[in-house]
Amino acid sequence: MPRHRRAAKQGNASFKHESAFEGKVRDLTSDGRGVVSHPDGRTFFVPGVWIDEVAEIRVVGRQGKVGLGQVITLTKADLQRREAPCEHHGYSADHCGGCPWMFMPYQVQSAAKLRRLKSTLEDLDDGTTQLDGLLAAPKELGYRNRAQLKTDGSKLGYVAAGTRTLVDVTACPILSARNGESLASLRKALPNPNWRGRKQDWQTIDLDDNLEGPSLNKRLPFRQGNTQQNAVMREWLAQAIASMPPDAPVLELFAGSGNFTEVLASHFKTVVAVEGDQQALQQLSDVAPERVQAHALNLFSVPAVEAWVNEKQGIRVLVLDPPREGLKVRTPFLKELAELETVIYVACDLATWARDCKDFLAQGFRLAQVTPLDLFPQTPHLEVLSVLTRV
Ligand SMILES: C[S@@+](CC[C@H](N)C(=O)[O-])C[C@H]1O[C@@H](n2cnc3c(N)ncnc32)[C@H](O)[C@@H]1O
Repeated sequence: MPRHRRAAKQGNASFKHESAFEGKVRDLTSDGRGVVSHPDGRTFFVPGVWIDEVAEIRVVGRQGKVGLGQVITLTKADLQRREAPCEHHGYSADHCGGCPWMFMPYQVQSAAKLRRLKSTLEDLDDGTTQLDGLLAAPKELGYRNRAQLKTDGSKLGYVAAGTRTLVDVTACPILSARNGESLASLRKALPNPNWRGRKQDWQTIDLDDNLEGPSLNKRLPFRQGNTQQNAVMREWLAQAIASMPPDAPVLELFAGSGNFTEVLASHFKTVVAVEGDQQALQQLSDVAPERVQAHALNLFSVPAVEAWVNEKQGIRVLVLDPPREGLKVRTPFLKELAELETVIYVACDLATWARDCKDFLAQGFRLAQVTPLDLFPQTPHLEVLSVLTRV
């Protein structure tokens, strides 16, 4: 889940010492920053601005060919702007930076997500795709069932976007009530010499409102980060498969701990579930009914996938929910699954989803249904639930 912290490659001195400029925001990036044109034609990415706003911008570095800027003043602000409901919101090294769109009302954030999806669909929709309305989140705050905190023994919080600076977070309004209480009680233990960084600058504390208590330096298997919206996704999946013949063999890729496997197994007689994380696979195997065959496989390894998929004949339905990289290794599936009729693709990254869909379309599929769902309000993240069918 996207805390949008990809470290930018900053530090080109000639860029840094350039003078400020005024520019208009013409678009938003996938990580939520404004795209602004410099008067000399160069493109800059600037956090904390919205489409059509005009700002005086300080040049702070660059990321490849693109310049990085910070707002000095907004000369034309969007009238819908609001006071962000979080004291740690902002874009400097003192701010958490985890909710980049918090300064705009929820409906405006949602409209921007939908706009991006529609623009992506221009290349995929043959005119027959059913585009459903956005399944908006019932709670724009208080929804996160999980969070990863860092501590150096005196501060406890998040690492500011694109930096190595630990921001002391006294409260985080997007956390679920239980996780908010855990954060507050952890803070009472500060300063805590046991939490001082050992090999690294800090230690990691995971909050998960399904667990008894916080977990220190332990990697947890994946869990969808918004419990209410996960229930909506499961319901969507149940509806998508409801009219399919139960004896159609199903292959599920990136099955995790079995969140969607459970829905599939309540309808289909045979589900082959594939996952690369051993801990997740163990959890899946512990709860899966007999009709589920669980397999450990690195789905990003070409030889491993080729060898495995070769033996899989007769699969008629493919369900996948990959990480941001999408279905990186897809040719073996496209080549070998000759009887495939339906693909149900749950995506957390629009760009890789569109890339993969294009390859399915080239193999004779059409994009039948697209349902956007908001898992993470206050961020640009959009989950796309989609169905492709063979023409
Ligand atoms: C977005 S999660 C989906 C999990 C599950 N569908 C759920 O709803 O909880 C993606 C899953 O892909 C798994 N994964 C990531 N890279 C993988 C790889 N190279 N091979 C196999 N599985 C991988 C992760 O461990 C994670 O469980």
